[in-house]
Amino acid sequence: MNILEIIAKKRDKKSLTKEEIEYFIEGYTNGSITDYQASALVMAIYINGMNDEEITNLTLAMAHSGEMLDLSVFGKNVVDKHSTGGVGDKVTLILMPIIASFGIPVAKMSGRGLGFTGGTIDKLESIPGYNTSVNIEDFINNVKEKGISLIGQTMNLAPADKKIYALRDTIACTDSIPLIASSIMSKKIAAGANKIVLDVTCGFGAFMQNKEDAIKLSETMNRIGKLADKETICIITNMDEPLGSAVGNNLEVIEAINALNGKMADDLKEVILELGAYMIKLAGINEDIDKNKEMILENIQNKKAYNKFVELVENQGGDISYIEDTTKFAKAKYIVPVVCKKDGYVEELNARKVGEISGALGAGRVRKEDDIDETVGVMLCKKVSDEVRTGDILAYVHANNEELSAKAVKDLEEVYKIGDIKPKRLEVILGIVK
Ligand code: URA
Repeated sequence: MNILEIIAKKRDKKSLTKEEIEYFIEGYTNGSITDYQASALVMAIYINGMNDEEITNLTLAMAHSGEMLDLSVFGKNVVDKHSTGGVGDKVTLILMPIIASFGIPVAKMSGRGLGFTGGTIDKLESIPGYNTSVNIEDFINNVKEKGISLIGQTMNLAPADKKIYALRDTIACTDSIPLIASSIMSKKIAAGANKIVLDVTCGFGAFMQNKEDAIKLSETMNRIGKLADKETICIITNMDEPLGSAVGNNLEVIEAINALNGKMADDLKEVILELGAYMIKLAGINEDIDKNKEMILENIQNKKAYNKFVELVENQGGDISYIEDTTKFAKAKYIVPVVCKKDGYVEELNARKVGEISGALGAGRVRKEDDIDETVGVMLCKKVSDEVRTGDILAYVHANNEELSAKAVKDLEEVYKIGDIKPKRLEVILGIVK
């Protein structure tokens, strides 16, 4: 077998065999296949697509390209969640302690932010002392003792995905259903859970820009889940505007803590309840989705979920005084209002653009090795459909540089589209694909 024949086959719209896909993944992971050869094949896949069998073979080959986490010690109902990425997405921080508060084991490895989207690990690291690089024995012990551990990728899980994901970013091949589906599912399979709830974001701030593509991606991932014997449910959520109010690391952690204390924006609450209710169902606790939502609200109200979060932070070396008093989090030097210039209604608030503005302030990375500034970002005071008047504050820019702050204010003034007719609130849950 040789890589030239494999590239030519996909270039000519033919299907690849399991052996050919495994040959590519093994060779690219160990370096015997070069970046330019992999680029050619990935581009051919992007243009010509893959059938279900090829996508499954690609997923399994990537999942087995490195270490596999064994969570069987926690039984058959270990549920994981994953989001296809968004802006202001602090769902994992809120949802996982909620899930653990029901006695469902949470053993989760999360990623860092890249481009205009944030990452859970960066957010957790805004809590002083929180250790995200716990070794695997301690990670498993934390779950056994506390029922929850949230860490970064300390194992070499799906290294082929890591390489291909980084490559896709540099060759304009990110938004491809076979490539996204295999990337996500390979990580989930390697990460050991046997039930998976996927938050498939859809809209301006997501890979999937329309519902039709989001359904296609969801159906593809569900089929992979079935073939890999991992029950998978996809919840399609709206990412036209950012989720909740905060975009930026410290700001999002504070919003997550407030949410666990019962103060949660409506759109964020809907996503938490929907994903959480399905996770509880898959964990075998209770079938009734509405009842599960009630149970989640109860565990927020009685502080069980908040207490789980405190336990998690303490167990991983974090300073819980910051959780108990969020005013202790470091603040940016400049906190500048974005003032509304006309009366009307917020018609559009493009999530991708808000993510890019927050990234330009220093909250995100352009390259993997870049440092981030955890204090900067954007706090949104008005969202789509809100009535606004001249002089109202639309948002606050949190910045450490005067020039960047002025630019962010100006950019946000443009991103807030104000019209005369009140639009409907954006639908938050766009579909459920089982
Ligand atoms: N998230 C992933 O993990 N992979 C993708 O390809 C897209 C989103």
